Amino acid sequence: MNLILFGAPGAGKGTQSELLIKRDTMTQISTGDLFRAAIKNQTELGKKAQAFMDKGELVPDSIVIGMVEEVLSKGNSSFILDGFPRTVPQAEALDQLLQKLHLKVDKAIFLEVPNRILMGRLTGRRVCKTCATVYHIESKPSKVEGVCDKCGGAVVQRNDDKEEVIGNRLKAYEEFTMPLKNYYKKTGQYAEVDGNRDTEEVYKSIKALMN
Ligand code: AP5
Repeated sequence: MNLILFGAPGAGKGTQSELLIKRDTMTQISTGDLFRAAIKNQTELGKKAQAFMDKGELVPDSIVIGMVEEVLSKGNSSFILDGFPRTVPQAEALDQLLQKLHLKVDKAIFLEVPNRILMGRLTGRRVCKTCATVYHIESKPSKVEGVCDKCGGAVVQRNDDKEEVIGNRLKAYEEFTMPLKNYYKKTGQYAEVDGNRDTEEVYKSIKALMN
């Protein structure tokens, strides 16, 4: 089973992917994580992506599609695409790529979360600099403030989780990612899950769609 998880920034794509990796042995392909790793390693790709990410803008399609092609071509079974595609041209490129690789996506699951909830999730999110575990200062704090429960690394706020950048991310989402709902309704792969519930409840709904 191969899935696309899409939705607004902070909708819970990463959180649900983490559960699917642990419990259902799926592989997560997160374009955001791939870019953050490239930035950390100061690669050419990272330098190009950082300029856009820091402003809350989307990285140009050509850069993203090339990166995903490289990852998918290595061969993955049971993958979750988290944060890709997020524009219609990316979805079209993905369809072509999947055809070439004789792969298919079974469902494109949209996580629905109202805008009023997203800001609190994003401003309160903290991530481990070392292992990328995601926390939230209210709903999922680390045991010791600023220290990762799993690896002891520093738990910090993402640069793009500052209030002034979040506005741009939400705008980009409305303009470029929302149209994917219609795209996947037309292909028949679309499914929707209410993401404004307890993490376990959201997970159960995703599993129900998979079965
Ligand atoms: P990316 O890293 O993909 O960010 P995003 O899409 O904005 O999504 P987030 O990671 O912010 O949120 P999420 O849905 O994973 O939520 P999470 O589970 O962490 O992309 C970052 C940037 O990279 C983009 O802005 C762009 O510049 C670039 N980029 C990446 N992909 C690209 C592409 N394809 N094309 C172009 N550019 C691209 O949850 C958030 C918080 O809420 C956490 O603290 C969590 O604990 C909490 N939470 C989660 N679920 C629940 C729940 N059910 N109840 C209560 N709290 C919850």
